[in-house]
Amino acid sequence: MRDLDELRQLAEDYLGSLPLAAELGRLEEALRYSLLGGGKRIRPVLCLATGEAVGASADELLPAACSLELVHTFSLVHDDLPALDDDDLRRGQPSAHVRFGEDIAILAGDALLAEAFRLALSYSTPDVARELAEATLGMIGGQYLDVTTDGELDRESLRLLHALKTGRLLLSCVKCATIVAGVPPSERDPWVGFGNEVGLLFQIVDDILDATGTAAELGKTPGKDEAAGKVTYVSLYGLERARVLADETRGRVAAQLAMLPGDT
Ligand code: IPE
Ligand code: IPE
Ligand code: MG
Ligand code: MG
Ligand code: MG
Repeated sequence: MRDLDELRQLAEDYLGSLPLAAELGRLEEALRYSLLGGGKRIRPVLCLATGEAVGASADELLPAACSLELVHTFSLVHDDLPALDDDDLRRGQPSAHVRFGEDIAILAGDALLAEAFRLALSYSTPDVARELAEATLGMIGGQYLDVTTDGELDRESLRLLHALKTGRLLLSCVKCATIVAGVPPSERDPWVGFGNEVGLLFQIVDDILDATGTAAELGKTPGKDEAAGKVTYVSLYGLERARVLADETRGRVAAQLAMLPGDT
């Protein structure tokens, strides 16, 4: 498998040269601002790396990989809106609604979502777009739980919330890779197990970073979860126990990967 940095660069270049709908007019500026101004590109890299491990080429995978980054970026633009998390800083720069206004940010998010589906529909199989739709709906369901839950949440419910709002899109990176690579459905279960676990791990670590990171490190404002009274792995378990749970989850991810075929 190629170096992850190389895969990240492939995704970056693909996103940078992505044609956007002419009808958007100057709204295109707001889309490119959110899409190209930083971001770790974890989702496209996970899709590309998984796909290469099961025999697909980066060229075949890039539309799916980048459609996931487009949905993710849409989710961030809307997540930051005053009506949701009210965050001013994203990817090290003013959030879309701070830079362009709420009206433009809402429309830019909408357009990013539609562009994602245009990309996913470039495959001859409808399965990539169907999976992207199901993952997007899962993420939105998780965001709904996030904004409607106030203060009271048991451990299993928090796990479900995280598995939806963040885990579902990360799982989709793995699923889309297996679809593009033509892995038979009967052989996808171990990949789904890995994708589920890595998605949960990602949000546990995001919760820890919100409590421990700096704005310079994260490119977003830390301490927002506690200030907003969000139930997170840190608020529910405490920082030390959240770190232990993250480490245990990482161990399960590594064990699942070790059992999978190919260069994982
Ligand atoms: C942040 O995701 C939002 C979550 C789902 C936790 P990332 O940490 O992947 O954000 P970027 O894409 O690197 O900005
Ligand atoms: C965001 O979760 C999940 C999304 C679907 C965007 P958070 O609200 O914790 O993400 P950050 O911390 O703002 O990036
Ligand atoms: Mg949020
Ligand atoms: Mg947020
Ligand atoms: Mg967070």
